[in-house]
Amino acid sequence: MSREQLVRIARRNLAHTAAGTQDQADGVVQVPVTNYFDEDRWREEMEKVFGRLPVVVAASCELAAPNSYIAGEVAGTPFLVTRGDDGELRGFYNMCSHRGAIVTEPGTGSARRHTCPYHAWSYDSRGRLAGVMDADDFGDIDRDCLGLTPLSVAERAGLVWLYRTSNPLVDIDTFLCGYDEMLAHHRFDQCHVVGRQVIAGPNWKVAYDGYLDFYHLPILHKDTFGPEMSTKANYDAWGPHQRVTSPGRGWERIVDVDESEWDDSHLIGGVWTIFPHVSIAAFDDGRMYMVSMLYPGDDPGSSFTTQMFLHSGPAPVDADDIASEADYVKKRMEFNHHVVKDEDYFTGLRIQRALRSGGKQFNLFGRNEGGGQRFHGFLDTLLATPDDELSSLFKSLHD
Ligand code: FES
Ligand SMILES: [Fe+2]
Repeated sequence: MSREQLVRIARRNLAHTAAGTQDQADGVVQVPVTNYFDEDRWREEMEKVFGRLPVVVAASCELAAPNSYIAGEVAGTPFLVTRGDDGELRGFYNMCSHRGAIVTEPGTGSARRHTCPYHAWSYDSRGRLAGVMDADDFGDIDRDCLGLTPLSVAERAGLVWLYRTSNPLVDIDTFLCGYDEMLAHHRFDQCHVVGRQVIAGPNWKVAYDGYLDFYHLPILHKDTFGPEMSTKANYDAWGPHQRVTSPGRGWERIVDVDESEWDDSHLIGGVWTIFPHVSIAAFDDGRMYMVSMLYPGDDPGSSFTTQMFLHSGPAPVDADDIASEADYVKKRMEFNHHVVKDEDYFTGLRIQRALRSGGKQFNLFGRNEGGGQRFHGFLDTLLATPDDELSSLFKSLHD
């Protein structure tokens, strides 16, 4: 089923490649510039988008072992996701039951106990309160009620999603609209994580617009990877999740090959986005993946992007292999940091300032920018959807 979809998309790209064309949206769409900086709009997005939908925080491969964990922050919520000693993945507020300190320093690792740095209360890998210093001073407190506060988590296609609630309004499969089957072709669960870096950026939508946009590639990125890129893009959607492919690029390996012999690895190119905040790109024939996770900052004008790098296959054990992988990873991470910080977000931060200046009322998304059109259109629909209709909204988008 998912391979059939990949083949259909490849055929369409090959037809466009031969004709020198791309998909076209029905018309040009205007997006009010206030959407990018209005405080009320931003608060609504925090509540109705990031408050109700799951966000990617990790790869399954780094949370495979019992007691492994990741701690961080999403849109103001400090979180801890741990694989319990019983093998179950759980999410929590990373916040102490005593007086609210951050229990575990942001990062990844392995711990049987998470001990608060303030007064040493400790929690086990299932989030249960395991130790209270000078417990007599707290009398008869009910330890069973003083574990870490739970948040829902889900794993699909080798990625880990976190909800900022323990009672989701939309379950992960309804939310993903079958997209996880497509993402599974990348085999993220068989990769290993080789690095993370964080880049400050503009409003999360200014940043996200860029990930859906191939139109700018040869222009803005003319000094880096742009000269080898095309401006053309085709968009395929599973609900609000979109894959962006480029006719004329990456398909040359199958153009003269019979369909029955098309290899899956040749059919999964392009950029794979996950609504509302992830973009996944492959490098060097799938040797390396960069999973860019955009998180809103503390105000409408800021965001933070965590670039998580996955190297295909198991981690090397031989010293030479370790050294050569480290060398490759360092170069790839530095290059991608430079491109996104000094080209994309440099431009995005200036856009952010200009949008507030009052010089224009609307941004335009052309017929060649159907992905951006769908993103902003769905966002408007989502904001207008009450809680009790959220699940139905996503179900209505399933095939
Ligand atoms: S705040 Fe954590 S032990 Fe006091
Ligand atoms: Fe870019």
